Amino acid sequence: MTDNYFCKQLSSMVQTICVCGAGTMGSSIAQLAAQSGYKTILFDLSEEMLTKSKTAISKNLQALVYKQRLKSEEAVAILNRIIFTRHIKDCTAHLVIEAILEKAQAKIDLIKELAVLNSPETIFATNTSSISIQKIAEATSKPSHVVGMHFFNPATIMKLVEVVKTFQTSSSVVDQVIGVTKAMGKTPVICNDAPGFIVNRIARHYYLEALKLIEQGLADVDTVDEVLQTAGFKMGPFKLMDLIGMDINYSVTNIVWEALGRPERLTPSPVQKAKVEANELGRKTGKGFYNYSNTNK
Ligand SMILES: NC(=O)c1ccc[n+]([C@@H]2O[C@H](COP(=O)([O-])OP(=O)(O)OC[C@H]3O[C@@H](n4cnc5c(N)ncnc54)[C@H](O)[C@@H]3O)[C@@H](O)[C@H]2O)c1
Repeated sequence: MTDNYFCKQLSSMVQTICVCGAGTMGSSIAQLAAQSGYKTILFDLSEEMLTKSKTAISKNLQALVYKQRLKSEEAVAILNRIIFTRHIKDCTAHLVIEAILEKAQAKIDLIKELAVLNSPETIFATNTSSISIQKIAEATSKPSHVVGMHFFNPATIMKLVEVVKTFQTSSSVVDQVIGVTKAMGKTPVICNDAPGFIVNRIARHYYLEALKLIEQGLADVDTVDEVLQTAGFKMGPFKLMDLIGMDINYSVTNIVWEALGRPERLTPSPVQKAKVEANELGRKTGKGFYNYSNTNK
C-alpha cells in the first residue's frame, strides 16, 4: 500500500469475511474488508445490486488511485479479492457480516440458513441499526456467536463501529470482532444491546426534530440543513436522511419507538411514511428531500 491508511494486520482467526446484502452498507463494508486484506464474499439476491456494487467499488478504488492513496495494481488486487455472488452456497467464511434489509425475521432466516453451511465457529455479525441483537441471537442455534457490528455510512470512511454484545455473546467472539474492526482501521466501541444502541438512540432526535420543523412550517429543508451545518454538524439532517435511505431510517425510527414503549418524543413522522410510500428514499432512488439526478448534494 502507498501509505498506512489501510491496515494490513489481519486478526489471526478471521481470514475470510462474507458480507450479506450489497446495498448502501454491504457494498461499502465489502470494499473495506477487501481493502483491509480479507478475502471477501459479497452476497445479494439481486444481480442488479451486485453489478451496481461492483461498479461503485471499482469507481471508489479508482478515485483512491487518482488521489495517490493506492497504486493501480493494489486497486486491481482489492477488487479481485471480492467474490460477488447470488449463490448462498458460496457464503462460507470465518465472519459473516449481515447487512440486508432492516427486518428481524429476514435477518434471522438468513443467519439460520447460513449457519447450516458454515462451521460452528463462524461468527455472525449483524449490521442492524436498531433490531435487538438478543432477538436475533436467541432464534439461532448458537447465540454465543451472534454479535452486532454496527458500521456507519459510508463504512469505508466513518471511523466508529458499535460492537453490540448480549449477555450470551462469548467474550472470544467480542475479542475477535474487535480485532477485525481494528484491523480495518476503525474504532470499536462495545455497547450493550439496547434499542438503537447508543448512536441511533441519540440520533433519532436529530431527524425527528428536523422533521417537526418542516411539518409545522417553521423552516424549510434547505434552511434546516444549512443552519445545522453552519453550527458545526458535518451533514444536515435531511442530507443525512437521504444518504441513509428513508426506508431504513423509517424502520429504525419505528423499531426504537416500539422497543422503548412508544414514547411521544420518538413518534415516527408522517413525512417519513409519505417519503417511503412515494419511494423517495434518497440517494438510492435518485430523489428524497433533494433531487440526485443532476446534483452533487
Ligand atoms: N443506510 C445506512 O446509513 C445504514 C447505516 C448503518 C446500518 N445500516 C443497516 O444496514 C443494513 C442494510 O442497510 P442498507 O441501507 O445497506 O440497505 P439497502 O436497502 O441499501 O440494501 C439492502 C440489500 O440487501 C439485499 N437483500 C435483501 N434481502 C436479502 C437476503 N435475504 N439475502 C441477501 N441479500 C438480501 C437487497 O437486495 C439490497 O441490496 C440494515 O440493517 C440497516 O439498518 C444502514
